Amino acid sequence: TFDTCVSTNDLGAERGRAGAAEGLVIVSDQQSRGRGRMGRDWFSPRGENLYFSLLLRPVRPPAEIPPLTLLAGAALAEALAGFGVVPRLKWPNDVMLPDAVTGEPHKVAGILTEMVSEGERVAHVVVGIGLNVNGTNFPAELAGRATSLALARGQPIDRVTVLCAVLSALERAYDDFRANGPRAAVSRWSVHAALGSRCRVAVDGREVSGVALGLDPDGALRVRDDDGDIVRVISGEIIA
Ligand code: BTN
Repeated sequence: TFDTCVSTNDLGAERGRAGAAEGLVIVSDQQSRGRGRMGRDWFSPRGENLYFSLLLRPVRPPAEIPPLTLLAGAALAEALAGFGVVPRLKWPNDVMLPDAVTGEPHKVAGILTEMVSEGERVAHVVVGIGLNVNGTNFPAELAGRATSLALARGQPIDRVTVLCAVLSALERAYDDFRANGPRAAVSRWSVHAALGSRCRVAVDGREVSGVALGLDPDGALRVRDDDGDIVRVISGEIIA
C-alpha cells in the first residue's frame, strides 16, 4: 500500500521484472500520473477512490491475455452489484453505472492490462484498476461521462470494504480463467454486457457504426455494421 506513487501499474511492472510472486496487489491512495488506455491519463486524486494493480503470472499463451481485461471488468461488475447498483460493461475495459439524475451510463471504473512476454511465454501481466468510489468532482473533460459508486448509490462507502469485495470477486474469476482460459472471461463478461444497442466503434483508425452483438470465444467484439456486415473487433473500443 502506498500513500502516493506515479502509477500502480508501473510499480507492478517493476515488481514483476524483479520476480515477485503472482497475487501481489499494489494499492495507492493517489497517483501523480495515473495512466489510462491509449495514452490517456487516469484522474487519480487522493482520499476518494481506488487505484490498484494485480501482478499475475498466468500459464497461458500471450494471445489469451487480452481477455483478462474482460475478466476483471466482470469481477468489478459482480462486486459492485453487491452494493445496490446495476453495472453494465462496455467493451473492452469500461464499467458503467447509470447517472443518478439522467440514468445515462457513465464510467465508474477502467482497466489497463499490460503484459510482458518472452516469445510464446507470458512473463507477467499487470492488471490495473481505477474505480471511482467516493469522488464527486470530476475535471471538466470528464463531466457528463464519469461517475462514482457514491454518486450512483446516493451515499459514500468505505473504500476498504469495496476493495475487499472486488479482490474476492477477482480471485474467483481468475481461478475460473486459470482453469478455462478466455471462455471464462467471455461468459462472465457477457452476463453484465451492454449489448444489442447501437454503438460506434473505433477499429484500426476507422469508425464503424452498428449494433454490438456479443463476443467471440476469444473475446473479440462482434458488431453488425449498418450495411449488415459482421465486423470482428479485436482491438479498438466502443466510442459511444
Ligand atoms: C482506462 O479506462 O483507460 C483504464 C484506466 C486504468 C486506471 C488504473 S488506476 C490503477 C492503475 N494504475 C494506472 O496508472 N492505471 C491503472
